[in-house]
Amino acid sequence: MEKDILKIMISEEEIQKKVKEIGQRITEDYKGRDLLVVGILKGCMLFLSDLVKEIKLPLTMDFMVVSSYGSATKSSGVVRIIKDLEREIQDKDVLIIEDIVDTGLTLSYLMENLKTRNPRSVKVCSLLDKPDRRKAAVDIEYVGFTIPDEFVVGYGLDYSEVYRNLPFVCVLKPEVYMK
Ligand code: IMP
Ligand code: MG
Repeated sequence: MEKDILKIMISEEEIQKKVKEIGQRITEDYKGRDLLVVGILKGCMLFLSDLVKEIKLPLTMDFMVVSSYGSATKSSGVVRIIKDLEREIQDKDVLIIEDIVDTGLTLSYLMENLKTRNPRSVKVCSLLDKPDRRKAAVDIEYVGFTIPDEFVVGYGLDYSEVYRNLPFVCVLKPEVYMK
């Protein structure tokens, strides 16, 4: 894996520092609320597991698997729910955990879908924000890092399902995409 890396964009230390900060903010903001953390698999898994340890409140967790039709590096905006939430979210304070908001199409679809289920609130926490390619406006309450329009992997993000287990966020060498 290491040989495929062109450059590290966000180091493990930077990520861990940011995760602590966001966890503290969420802890402040959700005191006395009924927090339900909703992870969007699989990209959220490393971020979510580190983040929930920094939220010093009682909370529940649920997960969704969504697939946006398209190629490996481009999303089409047509979203399919592969796995839905296990429980109802009525009156809950839902916090969606995402790896990255790119076009925003996946999230705007998800937000609309979840809002029809009458939660008390729905907010978004994303490790990365890539605003250059935004097609649908989404309000992201908690953003880890705003990044330029480059395809990144690591810390949950994949290319063809590989590289998710890297502890940092990085850019791959161009030849990796030609294989
Ligand atoms: P959207 O374009 O905002 O709908 O992004 C949907 C999904 O595309 C994200 O949840 C990621 O799984 C994937 N994605 C977008 N940009 C990147 C990237 O730079 N690296 C890896 N996955 C990405
Ligand atoms: Mg993906």
